[in-house]
Amino acid sequence: MIDPLSPYRPDALAGHVAIVTGGATGIGRAIARGFARLGADVCIASRKPDALAEAAAALGAETGRAILTVPADVRNPDDATRVVAATVERFGGLDTLVNNAAGNFLAPAATLSPNGFRTVIDIDLNGTFHMCRAAFAALSASGRGAILNISATLHYHGTPLQLHASAAKAGVDALTRNLAVEWGGAGIRVNAIAPGPIADTEGMRRLAPGDAATRAKAGIPLGRFGAADEIAAAAVFLRSAAAAYVTGTVLVVDGGHCMNQPMMLMQQ
Ligand code: NAP
Ligand code: COA
Repeated sequence: MIDPLSPYRPDALAGHVAIVTGGATGIGRAIARGFARLGADVCIASRKPDALAEAAAALGAETGRAILTVPADVRNPDDATRVVAATVERFGGLDTLVNNAAGNFLAPAATLSPNGFRTVIDIDLNGTFHMCRAAFAALSASGRGAILNISATLHYHGTPLQLHASAAKAGVDALTRNLAVEWGGAGIRVNAIAPGPIADTEGMRRLAPGDAATRAKAGIPLGRFGAADEIAAAAVFLRSAAAAYVTGTVLVVDGGHCMNQPMMLMQQ
C-alpha cells in the first residue's frame, strides 16, 4: 500500500503541539506517529504507564521527536487537566486535541450491567468532554485550535451487541457539532473521524473475532479493512491548514462500509 501520509510535506505540522488520548496503541498510536512524522510535538495519554513508555520509545526512535507521556484516566476531570498542563508546560502551548481513548466489548443489551453501560459512556463520551473542557483555554490561546474526536459508524444503524458504544459515539458526534458552533468564535475547529473496520486493532479483535472478520470484509465496498495510517492521514488533513474552513463535520473513513445495505432492503 502507498504510504497514506506520502501526500503531505514532511514539515506539514511543524510547530504544532498535539495531545492524543489512547495514543500508545492502535489508531491513536498511528495518529501520534503521523503527527510526529510531520513535525508536531506530541503528548500521548492513557492509563497504562508501561504501554506509554514502550510507545514513546518506539515513536521517538522512528520520528526523531521526543514524545511526552502522561498516565491518565480520561474519566477523571483532574487527570484531563493534568494532561493539558503537562503538555503546555513541556511544549509551550497546545493547538490540537485528539480524543481517541475508548472502551468497548460485545454485550447483549438485555444482560449488559448498568456499570458496563456507564463505563463505556464514561470513557468515550464523558472522557471526551473532560478533555475538551480542560483544553479549551490553551486551544483558544493558540489561535489555530483543532479538536478531533474519534467516533464510529455503529450508531448510523442499529448495531447488535453495541448499545453502549453506539450511544457513546452518538453523543460524541453531538458534542462535535455543538462545540464547533460554541467554540468557532474562540478560534477552535471541532471535527470527528468515524473509522470503519481497521485492521490489526484492539477494536477489531474485540468486535469481529474469528470468522466475523471475514463476514465483515464481505460488506466493505472497497473489499478490505482500513489501515490505522489511513485514519492518521485523515487526522492530519483535518488538523492542517488544508481544513481551515472545516468544522462540525464527521469524516467517515470506512471504505464505504456504512453505505452498504443488506440485500433484502435492496430487493424491496
Ligand atoms: P485501542 O488500541 O484499544 O485504543 C484505545 C486506547 O484508549 C488504548 O490505548 C487505551 O489505553 C486507551 N484508554 C482506554 N480507556 C481509557 C481511559 N479511561 N483513559 C485513558 N485512556 C484510555 O483500540 P482502537 O481499536 O485503536 O480504537 C481507537 C479508537 O478508534 C476508539 O475511539 C474506537 O472507538 C475507534 N474506532 C476503532 C475502530 C476499529 O476498527 N479499531 C472502528 C471504529 C472506531 P489504556 O488501556 O492503557 O488506558
Ligand atoms: N461483557 C459484558 N460486560 C463487561 C464486559 C464484557 N465483555 N467487559 C466489561 N464489562 C463490564 C464489567 O462486568 C463491569 O460491570 P459490573 O461492575 O457490573 O460487573 C463494567 O463493564 C466495568 O468493567 P471493568 O473491567 O471494571 O472496567 P475498566 O474500567 O477496568 O475497563 C473496559 C474498561 C471494560 C472498557 C475495558 O475493556 C478496557 O479497559 N478497554 C480499553 C480497550 C478497548 O476497549 N479497546 C477497544 C476500543 S474500540
